[in-house]
Amino acid sequence: MFIKQLSAFIGIFMLILLVSSASAQLSQILPRGNNTLEKRIDELLSKMTIDEKVGQLAQIDYGAIVTDGKLDLTKAREFIVNKHIGSFLNVQGQEAKIVQDIALNETRLKIPLLLGKDAIHGHALYPNGTVFPMPLGFASSWDESLMEKTAAITAAEMTATGVNWNFAPVFDVARDARWGRIIEGYGEDPYLNYRLGLAQVKGYQGESLSDPNSVIATGKHFVAYSETIGGRDYSPADISMRTLYDIFLPPFKGAVDGGIASIMTSFNEINGDPATGNAELVRKTLKDTWGFDGIVVSDYNSVAMLYHTQFVAKDEMEAAKLAIEAGVDMEMTSQCYLNNLKTLVESGQVSMDLLDDAVKRILRGKFRLGLFDGKKTVIDESKLNTPEYKEVALQAARETLVLLKNEDLLPLDLNTVKRIAVVGPLADDAQNQLGGWTMQQPRENVKTVLDGIKALAGSSVEVVYEKGVNITEADVEGVSSGGGVEDLGLGGSTSNASMDAAINAAKNADVIVAVLGEAANMSSEPNSRAYINLPGRQEEFLKALYATGVPVVLVLINGRPLTIEWAAKNIPSIIEAWFPGQEGGTAVAEAIFGKTNPSGKITVTFPKTIGQVPMWYYHSHQKNWDGQEAYGQRYIDVEDEPLFPFGHGLSYTTFEYSDITIVPTTNSIKVSVSVSNTGKMTGTEIVQLYISDRVASLVPMNKKLYRFRRISLDPGHTRRLTFDINVTELSVLTKDGKRVVEPGDFDVLVGSSSDDSKLLKSSFKL
Ligand code: BGC
Repeated sequence: MFIKQLSAFIGIFMLILLVSSASAQLSQILPRGNNTLEKRIDELLSKMTIDEKVGQLAQIDYGAIVTDGKLDLTKAREFIVNKHIGSFLNVQGQEAKIVQDIALNETRLKIPLLLGKDAIHGHALYPNGTVFPMPLGFASSWDESLMEKTAAITAAEMTATGVNWNFAPVFDVARDARWGRIIEGYGEDPYLNYRLGLAQVKGYQGESLSDPNSVIATGKHFVAYSETIGGRDYSPADISMRTLYDIFLPPFKGAVDGGIASIMTSFNEINGDPATGNAELVRKTLKDTWGFDGIVVSDYNSVAMLYHTQFVAKDEMEAAKLAIEAGVDMEMTSQCYLNNLKTLVESGQVSMDLLDDAVKRILRGKFRLGLFDGKKTVIDESKLNTPEYKEVALQAARETLVLLKNEDLLPLDLNTVKRIAVVGPLADDAQNQLGGWTMQQPRENVKTVLDGIKALAGSSVEVVYEKGVNITEADVEGVSSGGGVEDLGLGGSTSNASMDAAINAAKNADVIVAVLGEAANMSSEPNSRAYINLPGRQEEFLKALYATGVPVVLVLINGRPLTIEWAAKNIPSIIEAWFPGQEGGTAVAEAIFGKTNPSGKITVTFPKTIGQVPMWYYHSHQKNWDGQEAYGQRYIDVEDEPLFPFGHGLSYTTFEYSDITIVPTTNSIKVSVSVSNTGKMTGTEIVQLYISDRVASLVPMNKKLYRFRRISLDPGHTRRLTFDINVTELSVLTKDGKRVVEPGDFDVLVGSSSDDSKLLKSSFKL
């Protein structure tokens, strides 16, 4: 009951929020109550046997139809023709066309297949697909329109390789830097997650799903998958209703209202109830209350997990029953539905209505994609990684970069620098730079930092390169000692000779560019880390470089906030490049030489030490009366502050905020502020607006992000910005689970980071 009430309130809240946002047109994508469509679905359903219905709910992994690494037509036909399956995972290219043709030509009802794939940062799991920055990095751009554009390119490349269903975007609000999958989403803020994720949904799905270049987008992982215990993957989410409804559900609700066509359930349990068997959240909240009429797909084997690893079912048949009742329409890879649903329905344990509802949703997806209306699978690899797409990938990489620190070193002046030492294990590592969910890409597709610096430095500058150290030191088989990681096959121990060679090269340079960080598979499923420092001997290497006295630019390529306290104190300039994608090296070089001006802002908090984790910017007020942080909510051995706060990111120019005014009307608050470029270079600022509720019936948050805007300003120029906030957005959850707007005083904070000292403040009363 509690959940139902909450859902209703959050529904109204998010609806109003959406109407006032730029993405309102998205609701046009999936017209509801389309009679013709529903008639066609019913008509087809009425012709289907129970076997054909059950088959539609199965998604089979590519691995099941392969022999000796090649598509096995006998196995494929067994699933498509005899078992009537509705979908494959990871079948692409010519093989996608082959299986689609079998479905269209050799099955009784000629129902086309959904072909699903994870393309979370470009079509990176396809050879020669365009690889954009990994989402957490790209989120630093706060650039919805560029995110939409990259998603549209991804969709075009997917359709050119026969794939029509993308398992992206990742709406997991991620707050624990140890968690390996933090890199796959947009960071710790629910509002930003919703805005950026929805922009990508719009790009994937296009104006209409039936367009030739559109694919179905999937919001995943529903829900609270990222609320881990200690950052471990697949761990339970033991979570309050307030956190669930305020932090984890809103991005999904926004996506549903924006027309997303599928949602994936997560592996984790929520307060003991696994997401894939969770009728309260999936059937009641997502489907009944929010009105989601698309496809709910399980995660990989997560239906079978209800029996095999989570022990809420006594066998696979009971797992199937739980999942279908919960509202999971399609089972990914395990075959509990395929093997048991017919029996369950025929014995009356599962109603035909429930089965029909699931089948209709899958058919609806196929109709919406235009698959019944002559949409052809045309494989055309010439459409991949075009010059235009490369340019967009470069722009995405540029906007991904975050200048974490800069003390009079960057940009480098090419008139004075004659010798640059480029060092470090990620300076010329084309594959790791791309991040996870990526297959081996042609070397020539990727610009490493070394490539970029060589290309842009010009002939008068000598560029020397030495790797110096490995990414990790896998000194013990399996798990290495001293804060290392599992042996991820990254090359074993660093030799002293290799380190010495790099130090010697560095000694004779005018400047050192050290490219350090993590391997792609250190930030991935299920690779969480207990230490989030620079792995292996990299910090030792950095200290040795620093000791040469030659100025060091540190470039980080990594998938999570790292504890780089020493570097932040001692190294003059630090660029966070994340996993910046195929053009990352060019973007880094451009920033180093001042051809571009960095503008990214981190969307996760960087802690000083692992002991502060988890750490995020919004938290209960809990101040003392004198305004200081509450007594006791601190450590005795580290300051309260993070190393770098959410929203932080520098520029080569400076911005100043002034003249904040607030005009409350009956339904909305209008906040205006002036932003000036007070430096010497054109720059882009990401203006952030936070609101703090001073008193509420449940302890209010210190601040929450409500709006943001990217603006470009020339030196000496000022722009006046106005933000409209609907009062309903100020609603809070009360003790009895209602969402209400409570009258009182609110502070508005506007500025260039979540750090209070950088925020201009004003107040209003409701
Ligand atoms: C992941 C999902 C992914 C699926 C299919 C799972 O292991 O959790 O995010 O979509 O595999 O590749």
